[in-house]
Amino acid sequence: MIQLSARNIINVLATDSPHCLQDLIQTAEKCRKKNVGDKVYLRGLIEFSNFCGCNCLYCGIRKDNHNLQRYRLDKKNIIQMAMLAFEKGYHSICLQSGESNNTADIDLLAEIVAEIKRLSMERDENSRGLGITLSVGELSYQQYKKLWDAGAHRYLLRIESSDPTLFKRIHPPAQHLESRLECLRALKDIGYQTGTGVMIGLPGQTAEHLYQDLVFFQDEDVDMLGMGPYIPHHAAPLSKVLDTQLDPYTTTLKMLALSRLLMHDINIVASTALQSINPDGLKMGLRAGANIVMPVLTPEDTRDYYYLYENKNYKRAETLIEEITACGFTPGLWQWGDPLHYKNRRN
Ligand code: 5AD
Repeated sequence: MIQLSARNIINVLATDSPHCLQDLIQTAEKCRKKNVGDKVYLRGLIEFSNFCGCNCLYCGIRKDNHNLQRYRLDKKNIIQMAMLAFEKGYHSICLQSGESNNTADIDLLAEIVAEIKRLSMERDENSRGLGITLSVGELSYQQYKKLWDAGAHRYLLRIESSDPTLFKRIHPPAQHLESRLECLRALKDIGYQTGTGVMIGLPGQTAEHLYQDLVFFQDEDVDMLGMGPYIPHHAAPLSKVLDTQLDPYTTTLKMLALSRLLMHDINIVASTALQSINPDGLKMGLRAGANIVMPVLTPEDTRDYYYLYENKNYKRAETLIEEITACGFTPGLWQWGDPLHYKNRRN
């Protein structure tokens, strides 16, 4: 059992020792079983638009990537996909897109959320309908409230790095850590189950940075975490910066395990990026403590344009469910799978 002191955590994150990684994963695996059991909940991911107003230096769908074909799925299409997910037993979905705080876009999204909610509740009188997570970036308090009133109840907004200097290094000057923090606090204030996360293995990122990120997650008392390895994208300027110090794959596994050990009752995602960077990513991510998987439901003819990083690997939802079972976990179908932490902090 490792002692979770600052010094130990930093040492664990910095070492290359495979034994240390194994020990950590085994300890996290026990902690996960004891606190959240062996269920793995699904979030059907619908990437409904790749138009983006941001210029994050790492991201393939950044505004200045003019070589990318832009798309926006229409309302009917999105609602159909959501209802299909519901019928298959994926009782939570996540609607994700590039960032737009345009009033018309938010109004339309609120209509879509309300319609999905109405239809899914009609379909099954005894259920709460579909659980709806949103991940559409930084918006105003009123916009978050509008989407909440429409029926969304979870929100993912990654902080990317909680270190001000590193955050500045990977974002253009117009994007601010403080405003992201304000957004996270607004979301919690409204009542959302709130998730954040960071990328791991960024140029210039150290074990100390990641330790601070873990402290940040605890201080902000988050309900959900989505973290993944940083994977360079050729059209994004950060791909030209080559001073990576931490191995993105193994360090992500360590961050998942440490998060589980420090925050027993939150929901943690085994991200698509983790699954894309290593064929064992899903299995190892779940063993390290992740209890959420987000199968991509975006239609095949558009999903290639939601290209955040190179070699993004999509597995069919059915394949993911088989793999979850084969790894010894139980897919949590026909239920929302809310983070226990949310219930605990509200009681
Ligand atoms: N590598 C890994 N993750 C990335 N994201 C964006 N670009 C990359 C990349 N190159 C992640 C960010 C963002 C989420 C939607 O995708 O963390 O919040």
